[in-house]
Amino acid sequence: MAFVQNWLPPTREHWELVCRLWRYFPALSGLQWFISWYGQGKTSTKSRFNIPGKIAWATMEAPGFLTLLYIMFNLPNDLGIKSLPWGNWTMAGCFTFHYIYRALLSPLVLNPSMAPIHPLVWALAFCFQLFNATAIGGWLAGYGPTTDHEWAGQSWRMQIGFIIWAAGLLGNMFHDDDLREIRRAANREQQRKAKESGKPVEKVDKVYVIPKNGLFRYALYAHYFCEWIEWAGFWMIGGWNCSPAKWFLINEISTMLPRAIQGKRWYIKRFGKEKVGSRKAVVPGII
Ligand SMILES: NC(=O)c1ccc[n+]([C@@H]2O[C@H](COP(=O)([O-])OP(=O)(O)OC[C@H]3O[C@@H](n4cnc5c(N)ncnc54)[C@H](OP(=O)(O)O)[C@@H]3O)[C@@H](O)[C@H]2O)c1
Repeated sequence: MAFVQNWLPPTREHWELVCRLWRYFPALSGLQWFISWYGQGKTSTKSRFNIPGKIAWATMEAPGFLTLLYIMFNLPNDLGIKSLPWGNWTMAGCFTFHYIYRALLSPLVLNPSMAPIHPLVWALAFCFQLFNATAIGGWLAGYGPTTDHEWAGQSWRMQIGFIIWAAGLLGNMFHDDDLREIRRAANREQQRKAKESGKPVEKVDKVYVIPKNGLFRYALYAHYFCEWIEWAGFWMIGGWNCSPAKWFLINEISTMLPRAIQGKRWYIKRFGKEKVGSRKAVVPGII
């Protein structure tokens, strides 16, 4: 059943068009190297159009895995494919698992607070999700390998890719949680003070400290670095020819690298060069 005729699930022609357009995304995300404005997180600005952080994250990220799952469950039928190989489902599972964490658990359950997001940033992230999920979903649900035979003899590479994917995900979660702990600790402190003084508890939104645990000792955006490792592992599971997984990784780096460099400048301005020390922006020891 088509949710949007020819697009969701995509016909081969439309899927190929999406994949072609998706390769130009770095030209758009590259604008960040020239523009200092970024209406999100540490650099979010006051605007009456801003969307509350938690709602924004959930609504801009969730369409990705929902689109991918919709394609997985509908495209094979349209193409007359009886069942998809387990390799395809493994990759779909990895993608879905990550985005249940990123789009639902992180903002709605785990994160103590998230800065508001400008609708323009929200819209770009939303489009990122739709393009990416259509490219990967189309490959996994019928336009990539469709038989177990096509995955045969690749189990070593797939297993190593899966281990790299899992290590990256765990690293990303660990560092995300280290940032959460800063706000949780600030909240505990506020509650203690409020109890002592009898005054109401103050909000901990916008409490920032230089994170120091794990790879944060070496890079201020170590959680980004771990996420790149995760998606490099994902690409490895799919193999060299899995072009949608390759473009996912390239497009993530193209959008997150300038953000991390900009973020390092923010840390230096806020805490001073000495406190930031020799920490790199995102890749320990390199950049
Ligand atoms: N940004 C992207 O383009 C992008 C793309 C793909 C995946 N991701 C992934 O999504 C996750 C979140 O990304 P993000 O860009 O929102 O990361 P972020 O700017 O580092 O913020 C993550 C969370 O930690 C808080 N936080 C950040 N630095 C802090 C500090 N020094 N002290 C206390 N709290 C701090 C933020 O609060 P505030 O919101 O109040 O600043 C936010 O709730 C990461 O794991 C990343 O790998 C991001």
